[in-house]
Amino acid sequence: MSIETPALHPDANWWRQAAVYQIYPRSFADANRDGLGDLPGVTSRMGYLSELGIDAIWLSPFYPSALADGGYDVDDHRNVDPRLGSLADFDAMVASAHAADIRIIVDIVPNHSSNRHVWFQEALASAPGSAARARYHFLDGLGDDGARPPSDWPSHFGGGAWTRVVEQAGPNAGKPGQWYLHLFAPEQPDFNWDHPEVRADFHTTLRFWADRGVDGFRVDVAHALVKDMSLPLRSKPALAVLVDDGTDPLFDRDAVHEVFAGWRAVLNEYNPPRTAVAEAWVPFTDRRLKYAQPTGLGQAFNFDLLQAPFVAAEFRAIVQKCLAEAAGSGASSTWVFSNHDVIRHPSRYALPDGSTEDDLEAWLLADGEAPAADLARGLRRARAATLFMLGLPGSAYLYQGEELGLFEVADLPQASLQDPTWFRTKHKVKGRDGCRVPLPWDATAENFGFGGTPWLPQPAWFADNAVTVQDGVAGSTLELYRVALRWRRKLQCDESLAWLSAPRDTLTHYRRPNGWEVLTNFGDAPTPLPAGVDSATVVLSSGAPWAAGACIPAETTLWLAP
Ligand code: NOJ
Repeated sequence: MSIETPALHPDANWWRQAAVYQIYPRSFADANRDGLGDLPGVTSRMGYLSELGIDAIWLSPFYPSALADGGYDVDDHRNVDPRLGSLADFDAMVASAHAADIRIIVDIVPNHSSNRHVWFQEALASAPGSAARARYHFLDGLGDDGARPPSDWPSHFGGGAWTRVVEQAGPNAGKPGQWYLHLFAPEQPDFNWDHPEVRADFHTTLRFWADRGVDGFRVDVAHALVKDMSLPLRSKPALAVLVDDGTDPLFDRDAVHEVFAGWRAVLNEYNPPRTAVAEAWVPFTDRRLKYAQPTGLGQAFNFDLLQAPFVAAEFRAIVQKCLAEAAGSGASSTWVFSNHDVIRHPSRYALPDGSTEDDLEAWLLADGEAPAADLARGLRRARAATLFMLGLPGSAYLYQGEELGLFEVADLPQASLQDPTWFRTKHKVKGRDGCRVPLPWDATAENFGFGGTPWLPQPAWFADNAVTVQDGVAGSTLELYRVALRWRRKLQCDESLAWLSAPRDTLTHYRRPNGWEVLTNFGDAPTPLPAGVDSATVVLSSGAPWAAGACIPAETTLWLAP
């Protein structure tokens, strides 16, 4: 049976080459002026989003939450945080997006709930071994008195992955008792995905939102749900080290695909089928592609371009690899440079060439030295990278504020920091707040037009990036995104690409089946157009307006229309 619902229109392939704009709702627009962005704020800016030219919004969590992890600690997966609005506000937002021909993807957080979730509260109030505890991972500790955690597993934000509870029921009431697993903050207990009620509950959640007209889902830490909890637990002192054969105790286990096959059956009850994209930090392409298969979630993020330096050979190799992976899965590829978890890409590209992951991280240390950043260069490269990416076949995921050329706010006052990393590392690592600062809409308005006093302070330089300053200004980053997204729609064609020989190792040159060409000069010196390229066909440049007959400026991408 296929359910007819108010999803946008029955083009089952709308997602394959969509431009998807991520909204981090707390930081987008604050309609009720309480300092937290909200759903009516999103609705109030639908005209802006429509003019930007996106195909879909991916909405990060807006569910009831104590915000221990920015909303990824969910109290109730089927409701709206009252500070962000109501279910009626959600419906109004979906209706207004659909009226603007924009689809809505919501974030689903299945690996964990918050510690305020009714099931977790029930588990805490119940005795060890009870049915209520079985929905999570509760275990006795090691050692005679159980005072050592059940394994050496670390958590993602620092510290261990186990927290001991004081028992509330049973013979040991009032005493330290069992430990529960949380791969993230202690406020985010991991669900036990071997439990049928957990599986059934997420089917209910998917239907709940799909019935409200949601077009797709972004699936948080999709590769973590199924774990090997057989005793004794195996040692895993570093979370980031993965194996490529499905035998890791915590990540990318084969059985996770049974979960997603069940989800796919639910998503296919709808017409058009609801889409899903996996957030699965799996570095091995042959394993990552399983999440993207049509029998699974249908698409998967890769973060390969995001993690690459701005180097022609690296970009080209990644695109080749990801397109092959997409072909192997049956999905289209995804591309992303920025999101709510990483340093904004104009700042990353502002670091000196040869900077390592550690140099980048040093930026985030509380007592770290600010690296010698060349912000103008960072933005120039970011604009070139974005045009390189928007020409590729597949879905482009954009993060709010990148269309304004925002940099990371790397010097937020420490007293304002809210990321759990900051607390879990005992104030050593600042975490991800620097890319989450509320958007500047209006250069001269109070709080730059965001709404009430923002939950993270906006720096004075945000005035230079405000929408009002860039709106209608040729060459501004906002206008570059608008024009690029308009051209992208117009030039849309089959999902393939041919590389044309590029005369220097600093250049990439590819052509889409309809003749659309994308040329990027990654080097720091201008370079002539390759022989045979007609300068008059250049329709867009990531740098200064194109002057016929010119060289390609340093760190610049050109689009050529057929
Ligand atoms: C990935 C999300 O993108 C991140 O923001 C969050 O902290 C973790 N998953 C835990 O839910």
